[in-house]
Amino acid sequence: MKAVIIGATSGIGLELAKVMTHNGWEVGLTGRRINILQDLQKALAGQVFIRQMDITQFENARAALADLVEEMEGMDVIVVNAGIGTFTRRWEKELPIIQTNATGFAALANWAYHYFQSVGHGQLVGISSLAALRSSSSLPSYHASKAFISSYMQGLRYHAQKKKLNIQVTDIRPGFVRTAMTAQNGDNMFWDAPADKAARQIFDAIQRKKKVVYITKRWRLMAWFMRAMPDFIYTKIT
Ligand SMILES: NC(=O)c1ccc[n+]([C@@H]2O[C@H](COP(=O)([O-])OP(=O)(O)OC[C@H]3O[C@@H](n4cnc5c(N)ncnc54)[C@H](OP(=O)(O)O)[C@@H]3O)[C@@H](O)[C@H]2O)c1
Repeated sequence: MKAVIIGATSGIGLELAKVMTHNGWEVGLTGRRINILQDLQKALAGQVFIRQMDITQFENARAALADLVEEMEGMDVIVVNAGIGTFTRRWEKELPIIQTNATGFAALANWAYHYFQSVGHGQLVGISSLAALRSSSSLPSYHASKAFISSYMQGLRYHAQKKKLNIQVTDIRPGFVRTAMTAQNGDNMFWDAPADKAARQIFDAIQRKKKVVYITKRWRLMAWFMRAMPDFIYTKIT
C-alpha cells in the first residue's frame, strides 16, 4: 500500500509514518521542516519519499502533492494531518489556524479526492478532532476549523456514496494526544495518550476503512457528553 502523510515531521503524523513503514507500506512524507524529512527518509525502513510543503501556500502545496504522487507512482491513502492550534481569540493568531486547518486541509483533500476519482479508488483520511463537535471560548478558531474538516469530509463521503465510487473517507477525531502541539496545555489534560498509541489506533481505523473514529477509543464516551452537556455547564469547563 502507498500512503501520503501531510504533516509527518512530528507528533501523530511522525508516529503514523513509523507504524506504516513498520507494516510494509510505502510512504510519502511532507512538512515544512525538510531536515526532519531527510532524517526520516534515512531512519525509516522501506520506501520513503519526501516533499517539503507549506499547506498554507495552497497552489504550491497542491502542485507538490501531485509531484510526490507521480514520483511514488500512485497513492492508495492520504492522511491530511497537518494542523496547528493555539489558545487565542486574536485575529493575527486565528488567521494561520484557519489557513492551515481549514483552507490548507481543503486544498489537499480536494486534490486527493479528484485524484482518487481519476484512478478509481482511494481513501481520504483527515485528522479532525473532538473539538469539531462543539466550540470553546478559549480557542474558537481551532474548534471551527475542525468542524470544517469533519463537515467537508462528510460531504465528500456523501458524494462518493451517491456516485457509487470506490473511495472511502475516514474522519479521525482525537481527544488529547501528547505532542508538541499540546505541550502548551501543561497538566491541563486528561485521558491524554502517547502519540505512538494514537498512531496505532489510527492505522487500525484506516485499515478497517472506518467512517468516523475517536482516538483513543474511550473518547467516544466524551463525545457523547460534549454533545449532551447543557451550555451552562459546558461554558464553565471550556
Ligand atoms: N495532539 C492532540 O491532542 C490533537 C488532538 C486532536 C487533533 N489533533 C490534530 O492532529 C494533527 C497533528 O497534530 P499533532 O498534535 O501531532 O501536532 P504536531 O506534533 O505539532 O504536528 C503538526 C504537524 O503538522 C505540520 N504542519 C503544521 N503546519 C503546517 C503547514 N503550514 N504546512 C505543512 N505542514 C504543517 C507540522 O510539520 P512542519 O512544522 O514541519 O511543517 C507537523 O508535522 C493536527 O491536525 C491536530 O489539530 C491533535
